[in-house]
Amino acid sequence: IERTLSIIKPDATKRNLTGKINAKFEDAGLRIIAQKRIQLTKDQAGEFYAVHKERPFYDELCEFMASAPVVAQVLEGEGAIAKNREVMGATNPADAEAGTIRAEFAESVGENSVHGSDAPDTAADEIAYFFSGLELVG
Ligand code: GTP
Ligand code: MG
Repeated sequence: IERTLSIIKPDATKRNLTGKINAKFEDAGLRIIAQKRIQLTKDQAGEFYAVHKERPFYDELCEFMASAPVVAQVLEGEGAIAKNREVMGATNPADAEAGTIRAEFAESVGENSVHGSDAPDTAADEIAYFFSGLELVG
């Protein structure tokens, strides 16, 4: 059974959308097996998003991720990585399919409410960035 890292981003935590977003995950058959609300520093956000270091929006992205608390969580289920990305919808909410989290809640391509790992190797690294093995209760 697969696991993926999800982050409910500052735009969503500020608008009190954690419960509504979690309901979307659970309705899709994903189980939240770990979850914590944390305030990232800009440096921690930069470390997490290091793969995007060369992209023009990197600085803006790191500022945004440190602008308010986030909820980091581990989702478990059959094909959890792909299923989570399906429930999230396209990066740009303007392109996101109706009913997806980003279509319903995201404000812009930058402030797009959720993050989800994109492959098994990145999922493993991203889960380990936020959680110890003892915190994953499947
Ligand atoms: P994540 O699940 O957050 O990784 O989203 P993604 O895989 O759909 O998008 P990608 O990995 O390409 O980009 C990572 C994040 O950078 C996005 O979720 C956005 O928050 C941000 N981002 C991407 N493109 C832009 C952009 O053009 N402008 C700004 N400001 N942010 C962007
Ligand atoms: Mg990505």
